Amino acid sequence: MTNNGFHFPPGPKGWPILGVALQVRKDPLGTLQRLAREYGDIASVPVMGMRRVLLSRPEYTQQLLILDHAKLYKSVLTKLVVGPLLGQGLLISEGEFWRKQRRLAQPAFHRARTNEYSPVMVECALEQMKQWRSGETRNIADEMMKVSLEVAVRTLFGTSLASDSAGIGKAMTFLMRHHLHRARNPWHVPASWPTPGNRRARREEQFMDSLVYRIIAERKQGAEPRKDLLTLLMAAMHEDGTQMTEKQLRDETMTLFVAGHETTALTLCWTWYLLGENLAAETRLHEELGNVLGGRPAEVSDLERLPYLHAVVLESLRLFPPAYMLARMNMEPVRFGEYEIPPKTTLLSSQWILHRDARFFADPERFLPQRWLGGLEQQLPPGAYFPFGDGPRRCIGQGFAMLESALVIAAIAQKYRFRLRPGFPVVPEPLVTLRPKYGIEMKIEAR
Ligand code: HEM
Repeated sequence: MTNNGFHFPPGPKGWPILGVALQVRKDPLGTLQRLAREYGDIASVPVMGMRRVLLSRPEYTQQLLILDHAKLYKSVLTKLVVGPLLGQGLLISEGEFWRKQRRLAQPAFHRARTNEYSPVMVECALEQMKQWRSGETRNIADEMMKVSLEVAVRTLFGTSLASDSAGIGKAMTFLMRHHLHRARNPWHVPASWPTPGNRRARREEQFMDSLVYRIIAERKQGAEPRKDLLTLLMAAMHEDGTQMTEKQLRDETMTLFVAGHETTALTLCWTWYLLGENLAAETRLHEELGNVLGGRPAEVSDLERLPYLHAVVLESLRLFPPAYMLARMNMEPVRFGEYEIPPKTTLLSSQWILHRDARFFADPERFLPQRWLGGLEQQLPPGAYFPFGDGPRRCIGQGFAMLESALVIAAIAQKYRFRLRPGFPVVPEPLVTLRPKYGIEMKIEAR
């Protein structure tokens, strides 16, 4: 297909104007997978009169995230969904401003610093377990959200916000749903109209704002030295000796908070689901944990002797990547393969599709942690497995998330196993992140 000299990749025609919007709305993951299968590694996805191009080859992912990084921007959709909450935080800021902020925040995520948070991560898991009784059924997605929310709050702010915790969880879930719905619905009313949804969004945003500003103010007054992430961000200096403004501190704090806790909670809850359905893998994990830890919680120094635990997390991130799709937009023409893509096209690369591609993963739909034990990570073509993205905008919290996942799983798996409530529907729902649509109700059994 050619248009003004540009050469579009093949793709479905879909309905006038709508394109394949209805199919995407009904079954986003299945539709994208079908398009990749039918039209190949580069496919046009017409939606609401806008051009989107789906890139499903590792080389293209690398081009998108690394080689052409400087030419591309975060997509308009991403900014519409998370912009109102995250402002100019790291996740969506661009250009020189983003580069400076990333440089400022990076030291707070060095491995040695992150490792200092490991006792808090274990503590939060142990505390949550105290609420559980063997034989009861709980929504494991909610339980893991509580653990990771508490980890995020204590490591970011150095304090427990136990009394605000439920409110924070509710506010976040509502805001993500609200903004995603608005971004996906071209007929939405302006944000300034006082509809019930808009009014509640404003209230929840104000609640989150006042919380973060209150903690920043407390920290400014406090004399005692602290080691939490907020303190590190407040102390960080630009090369010219200036520090972040209060608004920027708010945006970065909110970004770390939002980007960090939900993704990690999802990794944990998908992992429990997968282990509960794959008893051989669960048994092997129990054996490794028993041999190395003998019932005590793991410490950072134990992790190198727990390769199967690491493989379980990698495999869970492969099958249910919380970030299931990355999007960029080009402001100038870019070439992918033989196609010259016009400006203002949304370029998509999906972990969901590439992580389940049989060209790179044998038996791709099966949960087989052992596939990672022989050095698969190093042997894969770069760009085939990217749960944390890649290139300069790779997740700043990758080490943090991997550490938290391993420590929390090690602590919990030594005490409990989980079994899906018979007949419970587990439905992956691609919102901003890949969530289980109805949660995951599992029976908790003491081991
Ligand atoms: C399993 C958990 C996590 C997953 C799967 C995940 C995934 C990702 C991905 C895919 C990106 C790249 C987005 C893009 O290129 O458009 C990203 C960026 C980011 N993540 Fe994570 N993340 C996780 C945990 C965390 C944690 C724990 C934190 C902070 C404590 C964090 C903070 C961030 C930030 C600030 C960015 C933006 C980085 C930048 O653009 O410079 N993430 N994450």
